Amino acid sequence: MKIKIGILNSKGGCGKTTIAINLSVAISHQMIKTVLIDADPNQGALFWFKKRNKNHLSNYLKVTSLNKLKKIKNFECLIYDCPANMKDKKVKDIISQCNYLIIPIQASIFDQTATNLFLELINKLSRIRKGKTDLVFVINRYKKRAQIFKKLNTFLLSKKIKPLCKLSDRIAYQLLASEGKSIFDVNHKPIYNLKNEWVPLLHFLKVK
Ligand SMILES: Nc1ncnc2c1ncn2[C@@H]1O[C@H](COP(=O)(O)OP(=O)(O)OP(=O)(O)O)[C@@H](O)[C@H]1O
Ligand SMILES: [Mg+2]
Repeated sequence: MKIKIGILNSKGGCGKTTIAINLSVAISHQMIKTVLIDADPNQGALFWFKKRNKNHLSNYLKVTSLNKLKKIKNFECLIYDCPANMKDKKVKDIISQCNYLIIPIQASIFDQTATNLFLELINKLSRIRKGKTDLVFVINRYKKRAQIFKKLNTFLLSKKIKPLCKLSDRIAYQLLASEGKSIFDVNHKPIYNLKNEWVPLLHFLKVK
């Protein structure tokens, strides 16, 4: 079965594009033909891909915009980097196709409020109600000692949400992205722990 993953939350800046680019590289490294679709008019993922050095290009990873997707024939995994705007018509279309929706969430009260509204919205969709799409929650920009994460846990518990993994708040994500890279493109020791944080997600998606 082809894997179709939407990365989505109506909260802007929660980490959709960061997760999309890192996940697409991680999956493509498993020799799974992966297409990252930039469905956001801001085109962050496409911009990232243009910055990508020749040495990091691979036959297993393509990045395209939504309207050029038809041209891509051979793929095993599609990853949609969605815009925050849930009123955008294409978002519903994307949700209707996906086996998995990855929902990044940060700890702030603003993120919790927005995520709450977002959940109300998507829980109205029949595909979600019927359980045809797995909702996967990822805590992003995690800081071990920050008290605010206790509040996030309380919020998630109240919603009966069990996050699958926690991705640390690390400048490496920003620096590497600015060079067209992901954490899965580098083998520096300090990045090992960061990569390990992704393992539960990769296992859940059955791509590792
Ligand atoms: N785990 C992380 N550690 C450090 N910085 C991060 C992390 N995740 C995201 N960021 C940074 O936070 C900012 C917002 O992230 P990103 O663009 O991925 O969010 P987004 O949900 O795609 O935003 P938008 O809704 O605008 O599309 C970026 O500067 C990104 O580099
Ligand atoms: Mg984005």
